[in-house]
Amino acid sequence: MNIFLVRLLTLCILATFVTCDPHAVPHKKVYNRKTKLVENAAGTPRGECPNDQYTGSGMVTSPNFPSNYGNGDSCAYFLTAPLGYVIQVQFITFTTEACCDFLYIYDGPSPIISPLLVRLAGSNLAKTVYSSSTRWMSMQFTSDQTNNMQGFQANFSSIDTAIPCNRDVVIAMDAHSTLGTEANYRKQIDFVSNTLVANWTVGPTGIQVGPTLYAQDEATEYFLNDAKSVADLQTIINGFRKQSINGQTLDSMEVAFELVTSGVDVPTNGAEAGWRLGVQRVLVMFLSFPPNNDADLQAAKVYTDKIISQGTTIVLVGLNSNVNVTQMIPLSSGPNFVFGVSDVSQLNAAFATSISSALCQIATQSN
Ligand SMILES: *[C@@H]1O[C@H](CO)[C@@H](O)[C@H](O)[C@H]1NC(C)=O
Ligand SMILES: *[C@@H]1O[C@H](CO)[C@@H](O)[C@H](O)[C@H]1NC(C)=O
Ligand SMILES: *[C@@H]1O[C@H](CO)[C@@H](O)[C@H](O)[C@H]1NC(C)=O
Repeated sequence: MNIFLVRLLTLCILATFVTCDPHAVPHKKVYNRKTKLVENAAGTPRGECPNDQYTGSGMVTSPNFPSNYGNGDSCAYFLTAPLGYVIQVQFITFTTEACCDFLYIYDGPSPIISPLLVRLAGSNLAKTVYSSSTRWMSMQFTSDQTNNMQGFQANFSSIDTAIPCNRDVVIAMDAHSTLGTEANYRKQIDFVSNTLVANWTVGPTGIQVGPTLYAQDEATEYFLNDAKSVADLQTIINGFRKQSINGQTLDSMEVAFELVTSGVDVPTNGAEAGWRLGVQRVLVMFLSFPPNNDADLQAAKVYTDKIISQGTTIVLVGLNSNVNVTQMIPLSSGPNFVFGVSDVSQLNAAFATSISSALCQIATQSN
């Protein structure tokens, strides 16, 4: 019990007041303390917040840096990386009042709704690196009314930590007797499972992969967030391997893209299917060539144009003994995004590396 309260209670007793409310006293005390602090704050005014918007790479600092920050500071920082990248921030210096002056770092665009990555205070945090899991990071610096220190200086970069790169990818495999035999169909599946994705960092903070197997009348589609690891992904794709293609042939290229488009139509099924905001999207499509005729090619192109117009890159892997790569280009994101496979022996590690590097490119123009 504080002295003020004791004194008032004594007064109550002495004056024999019947109703004397001691709860009013702590309220009054809080008011007194506040008055004192405002006086204190007048000596050290608020720091001026630096810019709040940052992109790519650069530097963020506390208010007034390299001078001390102020009293009662509250500054927000919004950092944005290009599509497919994450923000990494590294502290060069960090010194704040350990009890009371905080830098909050959020894994996302908003200090209000994004998850808190870390709350920093004190010193000796230099060289520590923090990363966001998407293209956005935000920060909030707050100081109390006493003890100002130098604060912080940090550099930040937009970086790609995933192998082969941070993307949301649908890999669509052809369930038809594309390369002539059922054994070749299985080699396509084995290539994707054991070679193409084998050393990718699969999961919510790396490359997300939604495998799809399309047959004549239906497509089996997994969401992008179903596979949490490369082992999960391989289990799903190996499940495709067990399916029999029963000598089915594809009616038309139009049907193939119609089936696959339903899975990559982001505006229709974005959040549910696990597409992440701000991450570059890719469709890797294994498809037997040639089209039936020019009308079939044009009908298929209606679907691929729609996919590309939604910002999804199309990497096309054409399968057939006499595949014509030039003919494939209009259905893809460009000449650097098409591959012809005329023999299954081409499905090797070097070819996997070529596909991986294509899907990591940002398509600059649509076809
Ligand atoms: C910060 O700058 C140092 C020195 O230039 C550099 O080595 C480091 O990679 C940078 N870190 C970030 C996250 O930008
Ligand atoms: C390949 O396709 C292109 C474009 O459709 C065509 O002009 C060319 O003649 C084709 N080449 C062969 C060898 O069929
Ligand atoms: C796996 O990753 C290493 C290095 O990251 C690379 O050199 C190799 O080609 C990759 N293997 C495949 C099959 O992509």
